[in-house]
Amino acid sequence: MENTAELEKKFQERIDHGEVIEPKDWMPERYRKQLIRMMSQHAHSEIVGMLPEGNWITRAPSLRRKVVLLAKVQDEAGHGLYIYSGTETLGVSREEIVGELLSGKAKYSSIFNYPTLTWADMGAIGWLVDGAAIVNQTALAKCSYGPYARAMVRICKEENFHHKQGYEILATLMRGNEAQKNMAQDAVNRWWWPSVMMLGPSDKDSPNTAELMRWRVKLHTNDELRQRFIDRSVPQAENIGIKIPDDKLKLNPETKHYDFGEVNWEEFWNVVKGNGPCNRERMKARRDADERGKWVREAAEAHREKKEKKIAA
Ligand code: 3HC
Repeated sequence: MENTAELEKKFQERIDHGEVIEPKDWMPERYRKQLIRMMSQHAHSEIVGMLPEGNWITRAPSLRRKVVLLAKVQDEAGHGLYIYSGTETLGVSREEIVGELLSGKAKYSSIFNYPTLTWADMGAIGWLVDGAAIVNQTALAKCSYGPYARAMVRICKEENFHHKQGYEILATLMRGNEAQKNMAQDAVNRWWWPSVMMLGPSDKDSPNTAELMRWRVKLHTNDELRQRFIDRSVPQAENIGIKIPDDKLKLNPETKHYDFGEVNWEEFWNVVKGNGPCNRERMKARRDADERGKWVREAAEAHREKKEKKIAA
């Protein structure tokens, strides 16, 4: 019988050879716990992320915009269910992981704790928030845990539609009148820095990155993903005449990357700790929805038990 040290050595060799770890494979308990933490928080973020945009479904300026936004919000629900199911392959129940969110123990992405004040916010979220998510999730689609990587493949395809529809909303507004242009610029002014922060704290302040990189759960560090997101977004902003609210932003001729200004990490940690503009509202909405949905879960459970009894009889 191999001891734990031998098993861990073999596991690391599999990771280093680029092998994919499946649910039934041996894995270090810490690897399993890290995946449960990261995947469940990702799933929470998808579901909570429906709230800011859901606020504008009934206010969309045209039927076409309403249909597109409905499709996007519905996709996010699907992404959440996908990733919750992926998390369950690690031996944890849906009730347990959702319970950790509702009790405040588990996190969800800081970005969803900001208010959506105008229709242009739908454009800024699609372009910036889904844009940052694509940068991150494209990497996760090659991560070492099979169910997570496979879930990302379909999710990234849908995120690309989300990103395009958001960018098109802003491009349309920027071809409009002064009021429309100002609305688009105001939305980007409010969503740019929270989107930059969404990719996590700087590497020096990230307790999980080193371990997650060693296990190829993360293929890039937070700062590498952030830089990729900024490099990709700046030319897109210039194409439609949007000004990025960072006067330190400058293409560095040596590195070919954009140098950018100081991130307000105090704001970031404040939001992560629950003191953002909408944290309480988001958590109340999730807890209320869970309460209102209780009878549905109980009915489904009763139906399952009845069916099982019938089969057993
Ligand atoms: N919001 C809230 N908490 C955050 C955060 C953020 N933006 N960034 C980091 N944190 C938390 C971490 O969860 C960790 O706390 P914990 O140990 O209690 O969980 C702590 O801050 C330290 O951060 P680390 O960098 O050490 O944490 P990670 O290594 O996990 O990196 C991450 C953070 C880059 C967000 C990583 O967890 C990740 O890539 N997660 C998967 C992708 C994801 O969750 N994206 C969220 C958005 S979903 C989305 O955008 C949906 C789309 O459809 C719009």
